[in-house]
Amino acid sequence: MPLLVAPALPAGSIGGQEQPHLPVRPGLALRAWRDDDGPSVRVAFNCPAIQRWHVRRLDSDDEARAWTAQWAGRWRAETAASWAIVDADDRPVGQVGWRGVLLAEASAHLSYWVLPAARGRGIATAALRALTRWSFTRAGLHRLALEHSTANTASCRVAARAGFIEEGVARGSVRHADGWHDMHLHSRLAT
Ligand SMILES: CC(C)(COP(=O)(O)OP(=O)(O)OC[C@H]1O[C@@H](n2cnc3c(N)ncnc32)[C@H](O)[C@@H]1OP(=O)(O)O)[C@@H](O)C(=O)NCCC(=O)NCCS
Repeated sequence: MPLLVAPALPAGSIGGQEQPHLPVRPGLALRAWRDDDGPSVRVAFNCPAIQRWHVRRLDSDDEARAWTAQWAGRWRAETAASWAIVDADDRPVGQVGWRGVLLAEASAHLSYWVLPAARGRGIATAALRALTRWSFTRAGLHRLALEHSTANTASCRVAARAGFIEEGVARGSVRHADGWHDMHLHSRLAT
């Protein structure tokens, strides 16, 4: 059956280019993950809050290497992307990225975490703003959404500070280790 609406973005429009290095603010940038970032990823997934809200943990250096290595393929497949948020010494202090990329709708969901030692300095908000700007002005996305448990007040603040408007609550929609959570949906449109 022929589709009556063309995909908003053609295949290759994202994965056909190199994953870019994006400036955030002085001393902060977004870059692709590297093999030697494993120790930072282990620190991240040892954090109880990251385990809680991202519902996974890492048990070995091999798993950390597999985590950093997965992103190149997902970028080329145009299904997801992750950037390391790096400090002035190029060391990761967090992660921001796209999940559930849909080229047909030019949309993606956002994911982010910041290492415990780097929190409270506006890093998540600044990184989210930088990725959002590039997503709309260069990558051609039309809609970015983000979803967090209604119990995750820190994430809600980050979303609001980065200009993501509240759209509503999806009741009992995501299972965490302690059961079903209501999820708060926010979004921004390119317009
Ligand atoms: C949520 C998280 C990414 C915030 O990172 P951060 O770099 O410390 O956030 P920012 O410094 O940009 O803070 C942005 C806003 O959130 C608020 N905030 C940050 N942590 C908070 C907390 N624990 N409780 C309440 N508000 C908090 C800040 O005060 C700020 O709001 P303000 O400008 O109105 O004062 C970080 O705490 C984290 O990694 N948490 C675990 C993983 C997670 O929840 N990821 C999101 C899953 S949806």
